Order: sequence, then structure tokens, then C-alpha cells
Amino acid sequence: MAFPFSPPIAQETATEFFSSSGVKIKEAGTFVGEDTKDAKVNVADVAERVLKWEDVEVGEPKEGEIRVKNEAIGINFIDVYYCKGLYKAATLPYTPGVEACGVVTAVGPGLTGRQVGDLVAYAGQQMGSYAEEQILPANRAVPVPPSINPKVAASLMLKGTTAQFLLRRCFKVEPGHTVLVHAAAGGVGSLLCQWANALGATVIGTVSTKEKAAQAKEDGCHHVIIYKEEDFVARVKELTSNNGVEVVYDSVGKDTFEAAGEGFANVASGILRVRVNHTYSLSEAAQAHTDLENWKTSGSIVLIP
Ligand SMILES: NC(=O)c1ccc[n+]([C@@H]2O[C@H](COP(=O)([O-])OP(=O)(O)OC[C@H]3O[C@@H](n4cnc5c(N)ncnc54)[C@H](OP(=O)(O)O)[C@@H]3O)[C@@H](O)[C@H]2O)c1
Repeated sequence: MAFPFSPPIAQETATEFFSSSGVKIKEAGTFVGEDTKDAKVNVADVAERVLKWEDVEVGEPKEGEIRVKNEAIGINFIDVYYCKGLYKAATLPYTPGVEACGVVTAVGPGLTGRQVGDLVAYAGQQMGSYAEEQILPANRAVPVPPSINPKVAASLMLKGTTAQFLLRRCFKVEPGHTVLVHAAAGGVGSLLCQWANALGATVIGTVSTKEKAAQAKEDGCHHVIIYKEEDFVARVKELTSNNGVEVVYDSVGKDTFEAAGEGFANVASGILRVRVNHTYSLSEAAQAHTDLENWKTSGSIVLIP
């Protein structure tokens, strides 16, 4: 089973997941992505060519909208897909990024339920989080409990709701199941392993390096396979006495196919540890993409404006 692309995140799901609530600006630094013309250039070239730091007018929120000053911005692999042109943005140029946590700096006319000063997090179809400030539909933002660090919130919205969707709705993992998680030390993978373990499943993870294997083990993998050193299909058959697994979560997609409001509560209660292993300044987003694409990262990556 491959990861579905961006499962819809309803506000009630996010609230359940997290279980817990002006300044007029003319310009803000933001990254503006452009399409890539040449698919064969190396990843550093792609990241540097398409991500440009620019000042843009953010403006005032309209009816139903809020303006948010971001404190931490989550990086997801999908950001790379858009920068490389694998997924097409609706318009060019555009500001990338689909996940962040920040403070409300203005609310649209007549809006209730959100106030200036609220800490909120958001994720999903609204692109544009690689920015110091952005305008959002108010109903896409969920309140963040004060006990949650903004870096954790910015790492958890999309990845956490993805993990929740995959483990609780797409396929309901139960005690006694065996699950296989590819890229087990990645952003989503790290959460999947911890959560599946907490649900009582036997967790088998695949990773590329010994360092990532150690992290996956800490994250509740009962068995870790370094797929560059051994044939993961043969090893899974061996580990399961040829019975196979109930479900495979494949973060990797093509490469692997070719070879073959609970969230914050879970963080607060210690079931989930959100590994914010890499922090870059917003102006270093191109470097962050390059590192992500060169297998240099594990856990979550955040940009700090
Ligand atoms: N983030 C989300 O919420 C979300 C939502 C829907 C779908 N997805 C999908 O889930 C997958 C994982 O997303 P993520 O944001 O959590 O990323 P990630 O797991 O933090 O990073 C990707 C991981 O995939 C492995 N990998 C395999 N082939 C790779 C390649 N060609 N280049 C770089 N890394 C490669 C690497 O692990 P090893 O070194 O161990 O191989 C790497 O750590 C992506 O396919 C994404 O589109 C994510």
C-alpha cells in the first residue's frame, strides 16, 4: 500500500488529533517556487534554482480568513515533488509549503472563534507556509495547546494526521498485526512506527543506514532491515515465517515498487515522540530540500522564519 497523497484533514480530525486553542505588514520574506525545466539537473541545482527568497505583499485577511506569523514551518517530501515539477502547482510562481505553526496577527471582518495572539497550526491543501506571514482560511487552523512547542506542532500536523489516517482509517491496525514501514526513520515513518507499536502491532521497518536503524529501533521497530545491505523481501518472509504482513506503508513510492487531536494527546502522554532532528532558517530552505533529497535527514525538518 502506498501512502495516499495528502489525505483530507478535516478540522475535527485535527482537533481530535491535537486534543486540546495587528500588525499591518506590507511585505514579508517568502519563497517563490518556479517550475523546473530540466528534470536531469542535480538536486542542489533544482532546489537553488527554484527556491528564491522574495518580498511579497501579504495583505489583510478577508472575511473568514486570518493572518498568521509563522514560528516554525514543517518540511514534507511533497514540497520537493512540487519544486521538481512532479506535482504541478496551480499557478507559477507560488510559495511552497503545506504545514506550519504560528501566531494569529489579524482576523478578517466579523470573524469569531480566533483572536490575535492565538497559537495555531495548519496543514493541507493551502500552499504557502514557506513564509514569515501568510493568510489562511480560519477554518483550516486548529488551536495549539500551550504545552506543545511550535516546532513539534509544525512537524505533527500533516505527518501526524497522515499517520492517523493510515493506521486508524485506511487500514485499522490492531494487536497481533504485523506491519512493514518503509523509510521508518523518516518524518511520517517515525510516527508510524511508534504509533503502530503502541497499538500492539509487530513493527518491521526498512531504512538505508545504520544510524537510521538505531533511530527506528528507538521508535518501536521490533525488527529493522537495512535495505541496502539485505534483501528486505526475503528478510520479511523469514521474520514472518512466510506469513507476510497485514499492511505495508511505503513512504518511498516508485523506487520500492520497482524493487518489489490523537496526535498532541499522544505527544503529551508520551506515546509519540516527534523527532525534530533538523532545523534550518527559512532562508536556507533550498539547502533543506537538498539534504532531504540526498538521504541526509531523519525524523522531521522545520524551517524557522
Ligand atoms: N509528510 C506527510 O504528511 C505525507 C502525507 C502524504 C504522503 N506522504 C508521502 O510519504 C512519503 C514520506 O514523506 P515524509 O515527508 O515523511 O518524508 P521523509 O520520510 O522524511 O523522507 C523521505 C525518506 O524516504 C527515503 N527515501 C527513499 N527514496 C528516497 C529518495 N529518492 N530521496 C530521498 N529519500 C528517499 C529516505 O529514507 P531511507 O534513507 O531510510 O531510505 C528518507 O528519509 C513521501 O512519499 C510523501 O509524499 C507524506
